[in-house]
Amino acid sequence: MSRSRSNKLRNDIAGINVKVPVLGGSYKRFIYFDNAASTPPLKSVLRAVEEFMPYYASVHRGSGFKSLVSTKAYEEAHRLAGEFVGADLDNQTVIFLKNTTEALNKLANRLPLKKDSIVLCSLLEHHSNDLPWRFKAKVVHIEIDGEGRLDEQDLEGKFEKYYPRVALLAMTGASNITGFLPPIHKYARLAHQYGCPIVVDAAQLAPHRPINMKKASDPEHIDYLTYAGHKMYAPFGTAVLIGDRETFLSGDPDQKGGGTVSIVDRKKVVWAHLPNKEEAGSPNAVGAVALAAAIKYFRRVGFKKIVSHERQLVKYALKRMQEIDGIRIYGDKRASLPEDRLGSVPFLMEGEPHGKVAAILSYEGGIGLRNGCFCANPFMQALLKIPPKKLKQIQQQIRESYRAEVPGTVRVSFGLQNTTREIDHLIKMLNIISEGKYKGKYVVNPRTGEYRPKGFKLDLHAFLPF
Ligand code: ALA
Repeated sequence: MSRSRSNKLRNDIAGINVKVPVLGGSYKRFIYFDNAASTPPLKSVLRAVEEFMPYYASVHRGSGFKSLVSTKAYEEAHRLAGEFVGADLDNQTVIFLKNTTEALNKLANRLPLKKDSIVLCSLLEHHSNDLPWRFKAKVVHIEIDGEGRLDEQDLEGKFEKYYPRVALLAMTGASNITGFLPPIHKYARLAHQYGCPIVVDAAQLAPHRPINMKKASDPEHIDYLTYAGHKMYAPFGTAVLIGDRETFLSGDPDQKGGGTVSIVDRKKVVWAHLPNKEEAGSPNAVGAVALAAAIKYFRRVGFKKIVSHERQLVKYALKRMQEIDGIRIYGDKRASLPEDRLGSVPFLMEGEPHGKVAAILSYEGGIGLRNGCFCANPFMQALLKIPPKKLKQIQQQIRESYRAEVPGTVRVSFGLQNTTREIDHLIKMLNIISEGKYKGKYVVNPRTGEYRPKGFKLDLHAFLPF
């Protein structure tokens, strides 16, 4: 496979040359393959934050010049965040929260759901787009096929079966595990045919593909959408929830207090205008600036380059990984790479627990990634085909604080800074594991399920900047 080793995007990311201690006392340049969890910061984001800090002051509260600048930055960031995903800013509101979990909980609190309403929830979902609905309505899951793709017949069948009780379709924009991209606009059209809105958890989608929520007059429009700065190279605690103004104008906000009101007397409250009504407490102006800077970066670079870079990495990784003895990749493994797949690859190594593989890659390879169930237990249980009896047994073990046998996989997920050379290093390490040639003796802590090499101590305190 022909491939270029240069990646110009890499230089845009902070911390790419950091070396970390590995087993034996030497240092290795850290390789980060956990971008589906959180991305490293963009240098332009750090610059924007640094430039802004001398002007940082109270938002929506102060009268001085710095407060005017901070308020302007905060409000301008809302506009950019909406425009970035094609929100209809005349009819929709853009609410800033701290992460997509908070955003989805807010939506669950603010939609007029009844206990017997049905929320159709894809089995692909992260817990954050599943659990909030369970406490407000009845969640019915949409099944998946053997590769983790949504079963469209099941989706249609469940709309048919539960109509007119279906109050919402909850769907991820991209699986955080297999990288599968559900056709959200097709499903939006289907949902709207049944008079049902759709919420898209775009935490995984936003940094990888352009999003267009489309106008409400378009049958394929997205009603509610959320995404987060920490997965967009702007890890300063700001996420976005977008939805029609009517949803948030009616009723009381779920979080009440400072910033949410226009006037209060001892009895009565007049709520503030949107989005302030839904953004309780002092606004995170720094997070807003960081997100706005990331959005400007994405607009400047363009998704053409970003998508092409990522596809090159995934194709290469899938091809090379499948050459390793004893590896099993989950999800769609085709190195020809279908269009509906992002750069997240879950896998297991024969005979080695996922936690041990992750530990060896970290302690001997200097590679950071994630293992386990990735905050999507129901999906992983289906993907790994865990029988109900076994699941019960595992649940009992966890209740008894025994986590050494918790199922899961290892996951590599790619970001802007990654290179094929880094993938070569991963492949080398996986071959070492496959051949049993790693150096450490790894022991598991049965209470946490975490593996560590015996006798190796890391002084993490030495790396804390305070
Ligand atoms: N859900 C994020 C992940 O996949 C945090 O790691």
